[in-house]
Amino acid sequence: MIVNEFIPKPYKQLLERGAAAYSAPSNIALVKYWGKKAHQIPANPSISFTLDNCKTTTSLKFEKKTSEGFSFEVFLEGVLEEDFKPKIEQFFNRIEVYLPFLRTYHFVIETSNTFPHSSGIASSASGMSALALCLMQVEQQLNPDMSKEFFNKKASFLARLGSGSACRSIEGNLVVWGTHANIEGSSDLLGIKYPYEVHQNFTNYHDTILLVDKGEKQVSSTVGHNLMHNHPFAEQRFAQAHSNLDALISVLKSGDLSTFIRIVESEALTLHAMMMSSDPYFILMKPNTLEIINKIWAFRAQTGLHICFTLDAGANVHVLFPEAEAKEIQEFIKTELAVHCQNGHFIEDKLGQGAQPIKN
Ligand code: PMV
Repeated sequence: MIVNEFIPKPYKQLLERGAAAYSAPSNIALVKYWGKKAHQIPANPSISFTLDNCKTTTSLKFEKKTSEGFSFEVFLEGVLEEDFKPKIEQFFNRIEVYLPFLRTYHFVIETSNTFPHSSGIASSASGMSALALCLMQVEQQLNPDMSKEFFNKKASFLARLGSGSACRSIEGNLVVWGTHANIEGSSDLLGIKYPYEVHQNFTNYHDTILLVDKGEKQVSSTVGHNLMHNHPFAEQRFAQAHSNLDALISVLKSGDLSTFIRIVESEALTLHAMMMSSDPYFILMKPNTLEIINKIWAFRAQTGLHICFTLDAGANVHVLFPEAEAKEIQEFIKTELAVHCQNGHFIEDKLGQGAQPIKN
């Protein structure tokens, strides 16, 4: 599938060399993307909070070369990373038609994350979006007339081809990806800033990430997505995501936190229920994931505070809560939940404004 809108006209100038740099945040889905069609098209729409502290910073130097094929080196925190090469090679192959300069240059890509590499936090969303943004910055130098709006749209479109959820890491602070009948402008091809009213209850919403298991996931999200083909509950699940996103539109407007919690926790547990009912089945939660969930439920019942959890494709728990209740909830996390984290580690994060260019 080729999308003509993103194929550039011949460039006005081809530079000999240059540089680009961007930082891009991670994101956490409220309605989950799980299951995809060919060309990284999601099986259902999703919506996410863009984070603030958890991000990847990537810089890229490019220089004209004469050899054929793609040529690049990748460094993570200053160390040459051969392991990243196949994923980037695959990404370049997918996006070459949209960025015809990819074979013209040799690239040196340097990347670092604000969160520990082995934290179990997926760096693919922030990593792929930061790389897509750097490549767009190169294209902008070759085609200086590009509008900011087009820049962001194409960056999200490209990031999606690197890692689906990465397309939700360009803008802040609520992003929709996937066509939904009641969300104007929503698209399977890219993430858009959530276009409707959002109640002040969600301003500065917190996400504290409890690092339950910092190890490699036993099952990658690529494998997990594929197991949604022929999954006995797939169609119901995709329909449920549409209706949960529909319900969230009025929740985000009214600030109804109880309904917000019901939808968000149900989405997290449904995601893991899909994993547990795949063929082959698998479990990514750990005993401490369940300890934390039970403690959150007990604390919520006891205090009436609006604390809730969500999960991504791993054992770590994202604890979500409003700014107005942050003090008491942060204290509870420190005294009651941190003991269930590996080495007591957690990361305090909140809603963020999206990716930022880095000035040299
Ligand atoms: O972008 P991927 O292929 O790593 O998939 C991410 C899937 C979830 O994190 C589980 C859900 C989501 O919508 O982010």
